[in-house]
Amino acid sequence: MPSKQVFEKKDGAVYTTSNGAPVSEPYAAGRLGRRGPLLIQDFHHLDLLAHFDRERIPERVVHAKGAGAFGYFEVTHDVTDLSCASIFKKVGNRAPAVVRFSTVGGESGSADTARDPRGFATKIKTDEGNWDWVFNNTPVFFLRDPAKFPHFIHTQKRDPQTHLKDATMFWDYLSLNPESLHQVMILFGDRGIPDGYHHMHGYSGHTYKWINAQGKFVYTQVHLRVKGGFKTVLAGDATRLAGENPDYGIQTLFEDIESGKFPEWEVFVQTMTPEQAEKFRYNILDLTKIWPHSEFPLRPVGRLVLNENPQNYFAQIEQAAFSPSHTVPGVEPSVDPVLQSRLFSYPDTHRHRLGTNYQQLPVNAPLVPVANFQRDGPQTFVHQGPRPNYQSSVAPLTYKPPAYNPEEHETFLGNALYDLSEITELDFEQPRALWQKVFDDGAKERFVQNVAGSLKDAVGHVQARQLSVFAAADQSLSDRIAKAMGVSTVKPLDVKPAAHADNVKYKFKQG
Ligand code: HEM
Repeated sequence: MPSKQVFEKKDGAVYTTSNGAPVSEPYAAGRLGRRGPLLIQDFHHLDLLAHFDRERIPERVVHAKGAGAFGYFEVTHDVTDLSCASIFKKVGNRAPAVVRFSTVGGESGSADTARDPRGFATKIKTDEGNWDWVFNNTPVFFLRDPAKFPHFIHTQKRDPQTHLKDATMFWDYLSLNPESLHQVMILFGDRGIPDGYHHMHGYSGHTYKWINAQGKFVYTQVHLRVKGGFKTVLAGDATRLAGENPDYGIQTLFEDIESGKFPEWEVFVQTMTPEQAEKFRYNILDLTKIWPHSEFPLRPVGRLVLNENPQNYFAQIEQAAFSPSHTVPGVEPSVDPVLQSRLFSYPDTHRHRLGTNYQQLPVNAPLVPVANFQRDGPQTFVHQGPRPNYQSSVAPLTYKPPAYNPEEHETFLGNALYDLSEITELDFEQPRALWQKVFDDGAKERFVQNVAGSLKDAVGHVQARQLSVFAAADQSLSDRIAKAMGVSTVKPLDVKPAAHADNVKYKFKQG
């Protein structure tokens, strides 16, 4: 259990009401006489209940269960040729960071060892504003069209009638949307259940753009590699831990930091020029694909260290609001449609979950002063004093000129949705490579058992459809799962031929 010292620290505080007045009898409600009704004038009692009644805020609609800590990001290598972000100006620059890890589908009380992707969200407080990395522990995702996200999430959560998790709807969605296969292969493989929250890697997944001082940009994918290596737990241990200690991930992170074993990640970036993007085998906006390291090697950037536990989970971690739209000059989103959709979704949910002024909460507030024309709203506690709330000629704000005039790419030609929605043979190449080249015999057998153990609970036609998706990657993979479930084997899903690099229609042109 967490160190007792933390909980036994006495600070000599005197018990008070919320307006700071001392109260001598905290367990007594004021009443008329010895047995009479309660008194409305007992502010202590009414305030206590009224506040208690409002203690809960909405939990995150996804990623509700999590753990977090504080630390710093440090630049270890010169990347000024890639990005003019102010944090990169000097090797050795450090910026404070807050990180929140999470599972995705379960509620705030669910088990840390669920077979589920993990969120890895980092807020880096730079001297040009906060830069959020809202990443996962896998380099790909289940979809590449954002309109599917709410449907997808509904199927991974609870059935509207039974309020139970439901294998049919879980696999129904995945089998109807086979671009999910790459993520499914990772999820049901040995990397599917990380050992706690701080023995895993982190990936931007999406393509971003880093822009240098000359306005030249490269496409990037950010990778966080955990020092000491990726550790996972096997299915049986995960199930045992879910019963014995559902908060295993929170506890191990807290205890390691408390005892000075500070988790650390090396930060790398993969880069691709616009010219390389034109020739790349896959669409760089396709979140279901990776960029092979052999073609696009990892280039070191910095390190992330977590060395401080929160003092108060709710204030400092639950109220943390990460968004891919919180970027800084020198970093821009690509036109990946899922990323573009996320740019809206996060601040929108923050306004709902935390309120209009969520950026003013201490955990979210930038270190640099904020000066703009936003005013008022509930819980305004970082105000801008008497500064005019419009662009006045009396006390005008100054504007910092842009650091660069960005080079263009990604001119939208109108067929992104079509290209990204179509399922082709290209979608099965990377899952096939995992099965045929990456998984050894033991990993293959565990994968088969993990899938069979879950898919067996879906209805027959959904089982068959998902088996046909596996068969499109590799018939023997599908047949082994079918055998483990005791059902008939099926033929592969009918898939359009691969559109190879020279005839892939890209939806952008050199600007
Ligand atoms: C959390 C939406 C895809 C990583 C969330 C939240 C929403 C959301 C609404 C809750 C945020 C909050 O309450 O603060 C979406 C949508 C997606 C999408 C609409 C696709 C269209 C992704 C992808 C990744 C990701 C692809 C990773 C590459 C995360 C993480 C969190 C999160 C790490 C937890 C942040 C925290 O700890 O506060 N997402 N998401 N999401 N999402 Fe996504």
